[in-house]
Amino acid sequence: MEDKGRSETEIFDELHQFKTRDMTHRSGKILGSMCTCPHPIGLNAFKMFLESNLGDPGLFKGTQAMEDEVISSLGELLGERDVYGHIITGGTEANIMAMRAARNTFKHNYPDCEDVNIVVPKSAHFSFKKAADMLCLDLLEAELDENYRVDINSLDELINENTAAVVAIAGTTELGKIDPVEKISELCLKRGVYLHVDAAFGGYSIPFLNEMGYDLPNFDFSLPGVCSITIDPHKMGLAPIPTGGILFRKKTFLESISIETPYLTEDRQSTIVGTRTGASTAATWALMNYLGKEGYRKVSKECMEITELLHRGVVEAGFNPVTEPELNIVAFTSDEMTVDEIADGLERSGWAVSISSYPRAIRIIVMPHVKEEHVELLLDDLRELRSLHSKE
Ligand SMILES: Cc1ncc(COP(=O)(O)O)c(C=O)c1O
Repeated sequence: MEDKGRSETEIFDELHQFKTRDMTHRSGKILGSMCTCPHPIGLNAFKMFLESNLGDPGLFKGTQAMEDEVISSLGELLGERDVYGHIITGGTEANIMAMRAARNTFKHNYPDCEDVNIVVPKSAHFSFKKAADMLCLDLLEAELDENYRVDINSLDELINENTAAVVAIAGTTELGKIDPVEKISELCLKRGVYLHVDAAFGGYSIPFLNEMGYDLPNFDFSLPGVCSITIDPHKMGLAPIPTGGILFRKKTFLESISIETPYLTEDRQSTIVGTRTGASTAATWALMNYLGKEGYRKVSKECMEITELLHRGVVEAGFNPVTEPELNIVAFTSDEMTVDEIADGLERSGWAVSISSYPRAIRIIVMPHVKEEHVELLLDDLRELRSLHSKE
């Protein structure tokens, strides 16, 4: 920092320079991210509440009332209106909060147990590795079946008397697969283990797709074993970053991670961050009320239709999808080129794709900013890549 400040014009010219180096979702070129263009209504609501701090909610009673409404609405969407939770920064924070609640509840019941573990599918998001590290938990990874959903027998074998939580995923990060949560719920009830469902990606689309006749598996609080759910408004909910959601079935879970806050307007706080923006809550509230279920049904249906278009196009272009898409993700490989060669070729044409780790494949997330015209251009580039490669 210089001693003397610079002019506003100079600052904003330079900020503009920085911004021109960023990619935009709007361009349709970002194909490997679960974020998307924030909806303008969410953005306006977000800007209106930039000053509000939910870390000190007594000062921002309106925002707190809004958060209560949002949590109940999200709970209602996920099978139980009377849930307890918060709007936070994203899926990572939600998963860490859930693992902390599970561990603290377990330690309360079994204070002498050391070497506490959590059992997660091999397909779990890396946030569970962070949670395990921060909370001193052993992370046990269950195998997947041939469709890349968690293998329930493997899960069952890993659960032992030191298991504080089992995790199931409704929309895996790499392939968008939905674990058999109904069976996992039964298993967890039988074994007396806390079940957390990570629906960071699928939470905002599976319920809407099912309302339209898609036959996707149940994963929510209507299953009695489910203790908590992660659902991210900043993914398929179209809210600006950072907006995540964590919901607990029982108040005691939230209380198990609460800490006394001596100098604030609330007595106890359960979130990991202290100062916490109310803007994310406002954006989520505005979008739920503006779009309604009808609006979200339209968003998820369009994404699925474009996913099906891409899936068919990839096959026709001579590539091999690794699995049938269950949500809006297409992953594929080639017999002729390595995954890195495909990724490099697409990158040269300006696409930002990502590579899944298991199995290794090109992974394309058909978020709402990915339109039919982008998919057509991508398929042209894939066909060209293949023909260039065959001439080498
Ligand atoms: C299933 C799942 N859970 C959690 C996360 C972490 O979310 P965030 O990046 O918002 O922390 C992701 C991110 O892609 C995810 O796909």
